Amino acid sequence: MTIRTLDDLLAEEVTGRRVLVRADLNVPLDKQTGQITDDGRIRAVLPTLGALVQAGAKVVVCSHLGRPKGSPDPAFSLRAVAGRLGELLGAPVHFAEDTVGDSARSTVAGLADGQVALLENLRFNPGETSKDEVERGAFADQLAALADAYVDDAFGAVHRRHASVYDVPARLPHVAGRLVLREVEVLGTLAGEPDRPYVVVLGGSKVSDKLAVIEALLPKVDRLLVGGGMCFTFLKAQGHEVGSSLLEEEMVETCRSLLERADGKIMLPVDVVAADAFAPDAPHDTVRADGIPSKRVGLDIGPETVAGFAAALRDARTIFWNGPMGVFEMAAFAHGTRGVAEAIAKSDAFTVVGGGDSAAAVRALGLDEQAFSHISTGGGASLEYLEGKTLPGIAALES
Ligand code: 3PG
Ligand code: MG
Repeated sequence: MTIRTLDDLLAEEVTGRRVLVRADLNVPLDKQTGQITDDGRIRAVLPTLGALVQAGAKVVVCSHLGRPKGSPDPAFSLRAVAGRLGELLGAPVHFAEDTVGDSARSTVAGLADGQVALLENLRFNPGETSKDEVERGAFADQLAALADAYVDDAFGAVHRRHASVYDVPARLPHVAGRLVLREVEVLGTLAGEPDRPYVVVLGGSKVSDKLAVIEALLPKVDRLLVGGGMCFTFLKAQGHEVGSSLLEEEMVETCRSLLERADGKIMLPVDVVAADAFAPDAPHDTVRADGIPSKRVGLDIGPETVAGFAAALRDARTIFWNGPMGVFEMAAFAHGTRGVAEAIAKSDAFTVVGGGDSAAAVRALGLDEQAFSHISTGGGASLEYLEGKTLPGIAALES
């Protein structure tokens, strides 16, 4: 089944039509100031929004932000995002104080052709994430009533069976936006016949989050480089001491079995930066990965590991990277993530950075985003895609 696209919608007359765009504007906010610390996800939907504005549509944008509990919570307001979106679009964005209430209805009714409104956080309504189809459907009815057509450009949320992602497209003519289309095309290449060698770098804190994707990737990849907090459970599975590093005891057996079945494709750290405590100024040294002192905690991969990973990446033709190699938010433990990111940036391979933390790390470390072939806006979504799961938001566009 083919997916209709934004271009199909634009080929019809959209001037003066109300178009609801589901975006993923779930950006990180500074806890103290409420300021947006990384606007990558806002920039990623500009091509879709710009095209609709140009075509004279009345553009109604909706998104979630964070995980509020189904009622309004100022800490998760999208107001600051409306301001930033307006700056980037070069025209003010009208902000509705609610999602489907009086403010939303009057804001949408007041839009002139080519103007943009942003609705308040979808998750202020319990219907958005409800497991109950009737409750979700009732909320979707209200959202759909605000528009004449629907565009899904929220790649980061396509793995969620939520009202705005799954139920609204059943109620309106629906198409995939430019971002969703590009993401699906890139990840489709990785899931299909990627150029070889195909090297995957996985990090992040938990093996349990990555287990399904490791299982799915092992038969496909030529090499799987493992760093980040999850490497310690693998090191433990090899019989090494990991001190007080992050460890998922109940996953040790699983990691052992993965290592056995991996045909030597899994590459683990040979050295680790171990600290006295989980703190930015904790005393730390580089130690061998097979003997982390008992009171110390591994917070990054070591320089020899970075060199080994860089060597493994050098002749790759396709690279997928998801998850930081260490606690990159602390400068002392950012070298591993930086080193691996730089090795990927330097490569002529088709390079894909998978979502969330790794995308944020690229920008936080000041690396050139253009040096990567694609930076996905979806962390969980890109992993679930590569696992081969059916993504509710994509399935909804297909029917
Ligand atoms: C994300 O940041 O992973 C996406 O925006 C989805 O958010 P969620 O994990 O809270 O559903
Ligand atoms: Mg998530």
